[in-house]
Amino acid sequence: MRFIFIFGRNPELSRFELDSFFESRSFEYNIVTAGTRGVVVDFRKNIDTDLLVRELGGTLKICSVIESKDSLNLPDSKFKWGISVYEPDISFSKVKEDFKQFFKKSGVKAMFYWPSRGGKGVQELTPTDIIKKKLFEIVVFKNFTGLTVSVFNPVLFEQRDLGRPNVDHSQVISIRLARIMLNFAGVKPGKNLIDPFCGAGTILQEALFIGANASGLDIDLKMTKDADENLRWFSEKYKTASSWDVRSGDARKLSSYFTSRNFDFIVTEPYLGPLLKKAPSFPEAQKIVSELNVLYSKVFKEFLKVVKPGGKIVIVLPEFVTESNKVLALNKDFIESDFEIIKALPYFEERHKLKRVIYVLKPKF
Ligand SMILES: C[S@@+](CC[C@H](N)C(=O)[O-])C[C@H]1O[C@@H](n2cnc3c(N)ncnc32)[C@H](O)[C@@H]1O
Repeated sequence: MRFIFIFGRNPELSRFELDSFFESRSFEYNIVTAGTRGVVVDFRKNIDTDLLVRELGGTLKICSVIESKDSLNLPDSKFKWGISVYEPDISFSKVKEDFKQFFKKSGVKAMFYWPSRGGKGVQELTPTDIIKKKLFEIVVFKNFTGLTVSVFNPVLFEQRDLGRPNVDHSQVISIRLARIMLNFAGVKPGKNLIDPFCGAGTILQEALFIGANASGLDIDLKMTKDADENLRWFSEKYKTASSWDVRSGDARKLSSYFTSRNFDFIVTEPYLGPLLKKAPSFPEAQKIVSELNVLYSKVFKEFLKVVKPGGKIVIVLPEFVTESNKVLALNKDFIESDFEIIKALPYFEERHKLKRVIYVLKPKF
């Protein structure tokens, strides 16, 4: 079976997420071709695309590759259809005309739907377009044509985010990023995970959703109470069966709160320095970086004491862009002395005043 996977706005993250997910879940797969917006994948066995698109944070659409138009299962009654063309060299109007003729010849009633945003020049339908208008979508990627079979549903993520009893959006990472990080690590049902800077518990709730046991620590007592309440709400609403345990304490003494070398995964967005309203001056950035170097070097020593041999660590670390556009990164000695860097991928959103790099690490010892 051959499928096209179309990625979201951080394609590099989406691609690494996909590979990590398939490998950790032992999928037998082969990448046929890859481009910036997606990949074409062959699978040896049947896959549940609806489940996959719910599990992946960075994939927007999964499309089943069609060898010829005649193999398409067309709807019986009148339907709306649309196209997304991810190849600049392939003409949108030509694909549209080809399919229009084909539908006419097949005797079906099909109404063409232009993308809601950007007018006729836009070549991409959003998941919201596809879901709301119940579109039959044709996708062209590389030299493959596909029919969209499963779409990322933003409403499902919103429910897991906005429905929480306690949430301050200036403090928490997005559900989507939490999922991507968990998939980078290869978190699976039944495994043990810890977030030593758990905040309101976003990473922990998504770990529960996967079926992993989730432990969290936060220095702020209010945050641990908030996280505990959020996780209670989450586990009842989503009927998750795995356990959670949130404690109040300092990540610099992590190993004093939890059993040693018990965790398969550490996944966290730690304290990243004070909230910045504007780009810092060079001396301000230097001060923050040197404070964070001290904090992280202690915390990384603790990571070694709690993570299992062969375990994985996925952590977001900051880089500061000063008002004069100089980039100040952390001293990486505390990582390189004890951990192997499997991957380091930048993650940047306009609304953030700092750059973030997601590291995937494994202990050397
Ligand atoms: C960026 S937030 C984490 C957000 C969390 N990942 C989420 O999405 O809900 C960082 C958290 O680290 C906590 N923190 C700061 N210093 C800490 C320390 N030394 N030990 C443990 N937690 C700490 C803060 O109270 C804050 O809740």
